[in-house]
Amino acid sequence: MQDLLSKLIKKNLPFTKDGNVANYIPELDKAKKDALGICIIDNEGNQYCAGDCDTKFTVQSISKIVTLMLAILDNGEEYVFSKVGMEPTGDPFNSIRKLETSRRKKPYNPMINAGAIAVCSMIKGSDAREKFHRLLDFFRLISEDETLDVNYKIYCGESETGNRNRSMGYFLKGEGIIEGDVEDALTVYFKQCSIEVTAYTIAKIGLFLANNGKLSTGEQVVTPRIATIVKTLMVTCGTYDSSGEVAVRVGIPCKSGVGGGVVAVVPGRLGIGVYGPSLDPRGNSIAGLHVLEDLSNELKLSIF
Ligand code: DON
Repeated sequence: MQDLLSKLIKKNLPFTKDGNVANYIPELDKAKKDALGICIIDNEGNQYCAGDCDTKFTVQSISKIVTLMLAILDNGEEYVFSKVGMEPTGDPFNSIRKLETSRRKKPYNPMINAGAIAVCSMIKGSDAREKFHRLLDFFRLISEDETLDVNYKIYCGESETGNRNRSMGYFLKGEGIIEGDVEDALTVYFKQCSIEVTAYTIAKIGLFLANNGKLSTGEQVVTPRIATIVKTLMVTCGTYDSSGEVAVRVGIPCKSGVGGGVVAVVPGRLGIGVYGPSLDPRGNSIAGLHVLEDLSNELKLSIF
C-alpha cells in the first residue's frame, strides 16, 4: 500500500500545475500550489501516508458533513430536512440563484453554502460561542483529536470577505429557514471552515463514517442512519457541480473543501484524506481527485 501511495502521488503531482490555490480569502493563497499528500486508515488502525500528509490546512467545506451530523443529533432528521433539501443543484458551491427561484424556498442540500449556513443555525447553544464550542468538541470527538482548533487568521479573512454568505444567511432568515440569530449561524459557519486539520485528521473522519458512526474504541457516536445520510449526500452533492463526474471517476463518497482537502469513505473499510490545495475551477483539489481516481481503480474501491 505504501509503495502504491508514493507512486500515485508522484504520478499525479504534475496536475497541480493545472489548477490554482484559492485566493478569495486572504491567507488561503499562502498554500504551496504543488503540495500533494494522502493518508489512508483502515479499521484495524493501520495508517498509510505519502507526500504532504502532515501539512496543516483549513477544513473549509469538509466541515459541512460534521455539522450536519451534529444538527441531526440536536434536532432529528425530520426537522433538519424540513429546512434543507437533499437534492444536488448542478450549481457552484456559493450560488445564490436557486434560493429564490426554486419552488421549494429552501436550500437544495446541506453541502452548498446556503444549506450549510442553515444547518449551522440548528446547532444548539445559547450563543455563537457555545454553539461553536459544542461543534468543535464534536469535531474533536469524531476525529479522535483533542488538539483541533481554529486558525484565527483564516477565520478573520472568512468573516471579512464573507458578504455573499452573509447575504444568503439574511435571505434564509427572511424566509424563516433560519429561526435563530443569523449572525450566530454565520459565525459558526465561518469558524467551522477555519478549523485546521491534516490529511490524517480528515481520514479519521472518513473512517468514522466508514464504520457507520463508530469511534475506534467501538463507541457509537451517531446512528448508522445518520452516517448513511451523510455518505449519500457526499456522493450526490459533496463535490458540488462535479459530483456526478466524481461518482463516475472515483465511485466512493467524497467531500471537498477549498483549503485543498478531500475526504473519501470506503464503506466498512477505509477512511481516506487527500490534500492538494491547487483547485479546479469548481473548487475541488485537482490533483487530489486524480489520486483518488487512480487509487479507486487500482484497489477496485467503487461502490457502484
Ligand atoms: O464559504 C466559503 O466561501 C468557504 N469558506 C468554504 C467553501 C468551500 O470550501 C467550498 N468548497 N469546495
